[in-house]
Amino acid sequence: MSNQTRVRKAVFPVAGLGTRFLPATKASPKEMLPVVDKPLIQYAVEEAYEAGIRDMIFVTGRSKRAIEDHFDTAYELENELERAGKHAMLDLVRSIAPADMNCLFVRQPRSLGLGHAVLCAEPLVGNEPFAVILADDLMTGEAGGPGVMAQMTTAFQKQGRSLLAVQEVPLSHTKRYGIVKGEAAGGPLMRIDEIVEKPAPEKAPSRMGVAGRYVLTPRIFEEIRNQPQGVGGEIQLTDAIERLMKHETVYAFQYQGKRYDCGSKEGFLEATVELALQHPDVGEHFRDYLKNLSI
Ligand code: G1P
Repeated sequence: MSNQTRVRKAVFPVAGLGTRFLPATKASPKEMLPVVDKPLIQYAVEEAYEAGIRDMIFVTGRSKRAIEDHFDTAYELENELERAGKHAMLDLVRSIAPADMNCLFVRQPRSLGLGHAVLCAEPLVGNEPFAVILADDLMTGEAGGPGVMAQMTTAFQKQGRSLLAVQEVPLSHTKRYGIVKGEAAGGPLMRIDEIVEKPAPEKAPSRMGVAGRYVLTPRIFEEIRNQPQGVGGEIQLTDAIERLMKHETVYAFQYQGKRYDCGSKEGFLEATVELALQHPDVGEHFRDYLKNLSI
């Protein structure tokens, strides 16, 4: 497999303030909110690891230290668990950062938008394709099937062009997403000919919304660098993708699985309930508990 089609690096933009989830996110990173027993960022990193990605690049900011600590060695905790003979727990703690995984951190000094966050990762990505994963979109594959990023890296190996995960969204929600329009290009792929960031329903070119998973070719960096501010005064990734489309084909990828918008309270609660029901330790008890609730 050539380096042109092998995705080895993932970028996690984690500098955002998480204002939709205040007060929980006042002093804690929103990416550290746990769904059942794991923080959102760990789900995202595990999804990338499953896709064969080993270099995890976090674009971080002030008050996000907990993310770095989560993927680092915890000497005191590990010594304590070892001394107490709690080996299963020790393995669990150590499995968060497997030995063949590299964590790299770069700061985004100001909140200038998702496109700008991705550009901050350029020195660590270099001239090769890479994934972008937004941890507050928690994505699950179908039971027993590959995760969403694994589906995307497999598709990327075949055609080597940028891919955006998409799903159909209600018309009234187009203002929350990048919206794409395109032509069917075989299987889950659509060749995109139009992309707009957060259009009002009456301006939306379709109902296909971009979810927080991308595989991008490195040309995107050049497009971001040369781009003016977009919606909300931010450097939008969506605008850079629109410019990229003038030089390279960009595909929308209809993934198999489910997305939970864990940046919102509703989505976070849905993820918590559904993942708790599937959890090997608490699932059965939780199912009984829900059945007996009088609602
Ligand atoms: C970002 C992107 C948007 C995309 C969304 C997916 O928006 O700008 O195009 O549809 O992620 O979650 P955000 O949710 O960060 O405002």
